[in-house]
Amino acid sequence: MKSPVLAVRDLSVFLQDGGQPRAVVDTISFELHEGEILALVGESGCGKTKTAEALMGLVPTAAGSIELCGTNLAALPEARLRRVRGRDISMVFQEPLTALDPVFRTGNQIADVFRRHRGLGRAEARRAALEMLQRVGFADAGHVLRSYPHELSGGMRQRVVIAMAMACRPRVLVADEPTTALDVTTQAQVLARLTEMAGEAGTAILLITHDLGIVAHYCDRAAVMRMGRIVEQAGVDQLFAQPQHPYTAALLGAARGNLLS
Ligand SMILES: Nc1ncnc2c1ncn2[C@@H]1O[C@H](COP(=O)(O)OP(=O)(O)OP(=O)(O)O)[C@@H](O)[C@H]1O
Ligand SMILES: [Mg+2]
Repeated sequence: MKSPVLAVRDLSVFLQDGGQPRAVVDTISFELHEGEILALVGESGCGKTKTAEALMGLVPTAAGSIELCGTNLAALPEARLRRVRGRDISMVFQEPLTALDPVFRTGNQIADVFRRHRGLGRAEARRAALEMLQRVGFADAGHVLRSYPHELSGGMRQRVVIAMAMACRPRVLVADEPTTALDVTTQAQVLARLTEMAGEAGTAILLITHDLGIVAHYCDRAAVMRMGRIVEQAGVDQLFAQPQHPYTAALLGAARGNLLS
C-alpha cells in the first residue's frame, strides 16, 4: 500500500479552562490515503472540531505529530505553516461566512488564493477564480465572481468556499460539518460537487459529520470519537454491519431510532 498523505500520531489538544489543562483531543492516531474519504463522527463536544483545528495548525497547544506527505506540520513554524495552509491542506467550515470576508467580492477572495500560493498575476488569478466557480457548478460564474458574500445564498456561499479550498488541489481537505447549515437538497448537491472535485484532484477528505447517512453514502472509512479519543475505526460497511465498540453500536442504534421516530 502507498504511504499515507496524512499520518496523525498521538495527537492531543489541551484546553486551559480555569484550573488544570484538559485534553479535549486525547492521543488520537489515524491515516488518510490519496483520494480517500474518512468520516470523523461522534457526539457533540467529543473533540471533532478541535481535531480539525489542530490539523490546520489553528490551536497551538497540540502534542503529537501531523505528517502531511512526510512533513510534520506540528513542528513547522507559523510562517511555513501559512504556506502549507490553503495550498496542501485546506478546510471547509460549517458556516461559510467564517471563511469569507464580507467586504471583498468572492472573485477577489478566490483569486487571492492563486496569487498567494501560485504566484499568479491579477488577470490570470481572476481567470483561475472564474474557472473554479464554473467547476463548483455555477452556471453564471461571472455573476458570482462579482458578488459579495451576503448577496449569495448559504449553499452558493459554501460552494464558493469549496472553490477556494480546492483551488490549489490540496492533498488533504478537512471539512467540518460542511453541509449541516444547508437544506437537504442543497446538502446533496454540495457534497456531490465536493467529492467529485476531490476525486479528480486525488484530494483526501476528513469529513466531520454527525449524519450517518452521509457517512454511508460518501465515506470509505469512519473513525468514531468519544470524549477526545478515537474508540473505533473501520471501513464503513464493516462499521455499520459489525460495530466493535459499544459506543459505536449505541451511536448507530440512536441514528436508527431517529429514522424510525
Ligand atoms: N473555546 C473553548 N473554551 C473552552 N472549551 C472549549 C472551547 N472550545 C471547545 N471547547 C470544549 O472542547 C471540547 C471539544 O469541542 P469540539 O468543538 O472539538 O467538539 P465537537 O466534537 O466539534 O462538537 P460539535 O459536534 O458540537 O461540533 C468540548 O468539550 C468543548 O466544550
Ligand atoms: Mg464541531
